[in-house]
Amino acid sequence: MIVLGIETSCDETAAAVVNANREVLSNVVLSQIEEHTPYGGIVPEIAARSHLQFADRVVAQAMEEAGIGFPDLTGIAATAGPGLIGGVLVGAMTGKAIAAVHRLPFSAVNHLEGHALTARLTHSVEFPYLLLLVSGGHCQVLAVEGVGRYRRLGTTIDDALGEAFDKVAKMLDLGYPGGPAVERTAQNGDPARFPLPRPMRRRPGCHFSFSGLKTAVRQTIQDLPPGTLLDRDIADVCASFQAAAGDVLIDRCTNALQTFRESHGDARSLVVAGGVAANAYLRSRLEAELEVDLIAPPLRLCTDNGAMIAWAGLERLRLHLIDGLDFKPRPRWPLDPDAPPVGYAGVKA
Ligand code: KG4
Ligand code: ZN
Repeated sequence: MIVLGIETSCDETAAAVVNANREVLSNVVLSQIEEHTPYGGIVPEIAARSHLQFADRVVAQAMEEAGIGFPDLTGIAATAGPGLIGGVLVGAMTGKAIAAVHRLPFSAVNHLEGHALTARLTHSVEFPYLLLLVSGGHCQVLAVEGVGRYRRLGTTIDDALGEAFDKVAKMLDLGYPGGPAVERTAQNGDPARFPLPRPMRRRPGCHFSFSGLKTAVRQTIQDLPPGTLLDRDIADVCASFQAAAGDVLIDRCTNALQTFRESHGDARSLVVAGGVAANAYLRSRLEAELEVDLIAPPLRLCTDNGAMIAWAGLERLRLHLIDGLDFKPRPRWPLDPDAPPVGYAGVKA
């Protein structure tokens, strides 16, 4: 089996080809960062237009680098949600058009399922496994029981962790995306200088909350002496924030591991996925303090990419899970539809 995957749900126009031997034959990622940088965050309209402009070229490049033509494919996969709907529409329509012309089966992939299954592309991971999914839009712990079978153990009741990284970076003028900048800056900082809160720590359950931590960082910055921030202050804020985020992840994942073990038997590994899983500081703390084998995709497969969509499509297609070309893209699409809503009205589930 050989599948083309297309990803356009956020600010990367991406396409990749993978096969059933878990080989990534090509993985093209075109970042829109420069287009969004002047605004300090992603502008949905700009994202959609840029996907429209570049999707064909990115697909063509992925096919060329893989050294194959469309008739060589077994199927086409495209992200069909959740995400910024303008961009999702572009990728899904591109995928459907190729599928229609070449009479190939189409797979409408949930972007989160792409992140969730990446570990099975990069490592020999069997179901079930515990997954920490931490990205710009999501912060969840899930029991991954099989393809299309997820049980949400916890989620954020307000901000996602990547979003908190991005906002802290914005407060400190470190640029977008904030995660890598905060991680780099934190390396020279003192994580103990500012006593920031650890929201949800020691509470039962596995839900997360990051908005109070974000507000505390804002207050900390405002309390610094007026004038230009010193490099040392900036580094100490980043290190203190990252340390607080690490403490929260460890506390919540400790509970999640316990819950998972009660229902699914022993678990010696924890799979991490999503953009924040690229953070080396958080990875090493999780591995050391949770005493688990941390299974983390390489960095380029943690942040959004086409290979994760191609792989999720391949996993679905080999179970004969084929979607019709009338599949409607979904701006919201939880992995576990049975999970009860959390938090306040209007927050992410
Ligand atoms: O998975 P992703 O590429 O897109 C979403 O589906 O959201 O994740 C992007 C998020 C951004 O918030 C970015 O700041 C964060 O992942 N991120 C990081 C790091 N690299 C990316 N956060 C912390 N440390 C990093 N090294
Ligand atoms: Zn993502």
